[in-house]
Amino acid sequence: MSQLGTTLTQYIIEQGRAQNESRGAFTALLNDVATACKRLSNLVRLGELAGVLGTAGQENVQGEQQKKLDVIANEVFIESMQHSGLLAGIASEEMDAHYPIPERYPRGDYLLAFDPLDGSSNIDVNGSTGTIFSITRHVDSSAPSDIDFQQPGSRQVCAGYCLYSSASMLVITTGHGVAGFTLDNSVGEFILSHPQIKVPRQTSEYAINASNARHWLPPEKRYVDECNAGADGPRGRDFNMRWAGSMVGDVHRILSRGGLFLYPMDAKLAAAGKHGKLRLLYEANPMAMLMEQAGGKAHTGTERILDIAPSSLHQRVPVIMGSADEVERLIGYHHEG
Ligand code: AHG
Ligand code: MN
Ligand code: MN
Repeated sequence: MSQLGTTLTQYIIEQGRAQNESRGAFTALLNDVATACKRLSNLVRLGELAGVLGTAGQENVQGEQQKKLDVIANEVFIESMQHSGLLAGIASEEMDAHYPIPERYPRGDYLLAFDPLDGSSNIDVNGSTGTIFSITRHVDSSAPSDIDFQQPGSRQVCAGYCLYSSASMLVITTGHGVAGFTLDNSVGEFILSHPQIKVPRQTSEYAINASNARHWLPPEKRYVDECNAGADGPRGRDFNMRWAGSMVGDVHRILSRGGLFLYPMDAKLAAAGKHGKLRLLYEANPMAMLMEQAGGKAHTGTERILDIAPSSLHQRVPVIMGSADEVERLIGYHHEG
């Protein structure tokens, strides 16, 4: 790293050279993502002073109360990304169907799926939030349909998130490892601060919403019971638990020091006709790519997340991701039934 620090743009260009790939379009695309994240970071930081707290008074397609900032974040991203001529379409948690690029702009060959504001219930309490994004290719030149977004996560060409917390950080992968950039507000740039993020194979920390314990299925119940039994139980050591209430916050902690993140299938979700809580295309897939690129694992309990062939834009999946040894252990419990 130079004395001044490596900017996101420099990093993408240098990585392109190292991989012998031409990265012009891609660099511009990621710059637009970064601009959108900087705009959101400012709004999150100003909070009530920018009038962004509270509910929007409407529900999204998934029946969730939208926060004002969910709606604003969606608009900020679309406005920052649609003009470039690089995207063919945009899909978002906050939009029923995908957003076609307006005819006044050229149509490109990338598709963006994103969660504009993850952990939005944290916004009113000044907790950590984030934006998650996933980029795939649009293979033909016609206007995309929702179905074109439904590609397995293994086809992502780039994935990442921006964490809005004590510092704002952009964490990305283009399939060659994971790098983290911290926003330096004095120059308005994301500067490379975490060049090669790796998740330790082992951990003594897990993350799950324990208020759902009575609904858990036997594998997760066994896993958590054994962790909580600590040094006196079969694991022979004490475990710690953390739950940020924002997948970005939890995944960032796991990328930083290891851990296991769980939003598994449970009886309550099943009774509501849901196949999980988190959405495949813009939550589970991008985080799974980051996790695997950092040496961790990401699974539903029965299949690798990146192998799932999506069947709808807002499909939900169970999520088990983090330190490889712990993911494997829980998969083992699923096999045992
Ligand atoms: P979103 O705010 O985008 O709807 O996502 C919230 C998600 C995820 O970030 C988090 O891990 C989980 O929902 C929190 O769920 P609980 O409210 O059950 O804790
Ligand atoms: Mn989310
Ligand atoms: Mn969201």
